[in-house]
Amino acid sequence: MAASGADSVAGIAASLSSLADEHGSDKGFGAGLRHGYTRAYASALSGYRDKPLKLLEIGLSIARDGVYCPSLAMWSDWLPGAEIYGLDIHDFSAFQHDRCQTFQVDQTDPAALQAFAAEHGPFDVIIDDGAHLSDAQQISFFALWPTLKPGGFYFIEDLHFQPPTEPADAVKTKALFHGWRGGLSPQAIWRLARRHRFQPAHVAGCLAEITAVQFFDSQSPDRNAFLMADALLAVQKAG
Ligand SMILES: C[S@@+](CC[C@H](N)C(=O)[O-])C[C@H]1O[C@@H](n2cnc3c(N)ncnc32)[C@H](O)[C@@H]1O
Repeated sequence: MAASGADSVAGIAASLSSLADEHGSDKGFGAGLRHGYTRAYASALSGYRDKPLKLLEIGLSIARDGVYCPSLAMWSDWLPGAEIYGLDIHDFSAFQHDRCQTFQVDQTDPAALQAFAAEHGPFDVIIDDGAHLSDAQQISFFALWPTLKPGGFYFIEDLHFQPPTEPADAVKTKALFHGWRGGLSPQAIWRLARRHRFQPAHVAGCLAEITAVQFFDSQSPDRNAFLMADALLAVQKAG
């Protein structure tokens, strides 16, 4: 009997989860905080498998040995037709995996991000699992959104957590995209643009190209479920 659509997405999710566990990424169910984001990624990206897509991830290592990049290895194995790019503030050039390249870039530096994107973009999928600071997430989003292809996905992980260096007046990324669903006022867009040193028209233009915003919960068994709600954000660009 042929597998139903739901069965095949479940099977695809299981294959991604086992690769996350094998390589040691906390996106799966076996390593670190065991966020279980692989289910959400599989459901969004199952149609992309075997396609010649370009995927960029910001934030490369959970510091097992300072060299290995678990999620890049996972993506490379799961997406056999993809070119995989990784950015990190640290140098991961010693990491070698099929169809993967890494670059040392600070995600809070919009000019460096834009220069990288001009050379290597556009991308079908962008994932931010980097500094986890709200400002860093938003600077990267507004710098890289123009290099996301129509119909592409931009993911931001771990919205439940910001490091202690998070400024008290930061606009939380979760709140920003919940706000997008209800419509952001011109004043809110102007404040955001000023905070991150973009032109208001650029910020408004990026937000206008969004076709869907979805949140997924972290499945971590180590934390209170209430705290882990809406931990992964998926933003899709209009096709
Ligand atoms: C949670 S780890 C990434 C885990 C990896 N994506 C995985 O799933 O296995 C976070 C990474 O973000 C990097 N990072 C922190 N601040 C950054 C910044 N400003 N720009 C770029 N990368 C940064 C850290 O060096 C670290 O390698």
